[in-house]
Amino acid sequence: MPRTLVAANWKMYKTSAEARTYFDTWRTLPAVAGREVAFFPPYTLLHEVSAYLRPGEAAGAQNLHEAPEGVFTGEVSAAMVLDAGCVYALVGHSERRHLFGERDERVAKKFTAALNAGLRPILCVGETLEEREAGRTLQLVLGQLQAAVGMLPPTAGFDVAYEPVWAIGTGKVARCEDAAEVHAAILEWLKKRGAGKDARLLYGGSVKPDNAADLLATEAVHGLLVGGASLQPEEFHRIVTAGL
Ligand code: 13P
Repeated sequence: MPRTLVAANWKMYKTSAEARTYFDTWRTLPAVAGREVAFFPPYTLLHEVSAYLRPGEAAGAQNLHEAPEGVFTGEVSAAMVLDAGCVYALVGHSERRHLFGERDERVAKKFTAALNAGLRPILCVGETLEEREAGRTLQLVLGQLQAAVGMLPPTAGFDVAYEPVWAIGTGKVARCEDAAEVHAAILEWLKKRGAGKDARLLYGGSVKPDNAADLLATEAVHGLLVGGASLQPEEFHRIVTAGL
């Protein structure tokens, strides 16, 4: 199993000057042995952020287009984000699915495009509140997994982020036992198919410094995907070091 991964998804926040200020502070905070840190800034900051990274830190893209190149105004390919310094790419983030209408079929194409380009994709899965209340969480999450991973060769290297939609940006964090249940189901599904042998399962959704240690100590939670609380370097550093 690779190291625990704590990832910062900056979403549509920060200019170049703000990123510089962030890393001026970040680099005064102690590097964390034994945990990998990844930053997912907007596309415009990928080159710059890649240049600020220390050993044990990596950059990733928040999204990509599935085609290698072409007449797709406003889009960015997997090869382009790789060229900008990315190791990782988020695929199927709930905001892409719910705000931009990305369906499983499209997510699967992006996932494959990322792998083919040599990126390590992080497949985001998660249920809405309505789906959870209807008792459909596992069916939905495993369906999202099947759509993206189902046809892949067993050697493909990727990670999975479980982000319940109702926990994203709401301050409502999943209970550790709920995260553990979903993560265990994902692990079992992967094991059955012999896929994702070194896949880490990250939890995302209202992760904060005061809940990070408990989440990281939860069975089958191998990392965190952090939105709002990753925007301040000191706060994110408290999450990266939680429980150490
Ligand atoms: P918050 O941490 O702001 O809830 O966002 C989670 C998320 O969407 C990370 O990808």
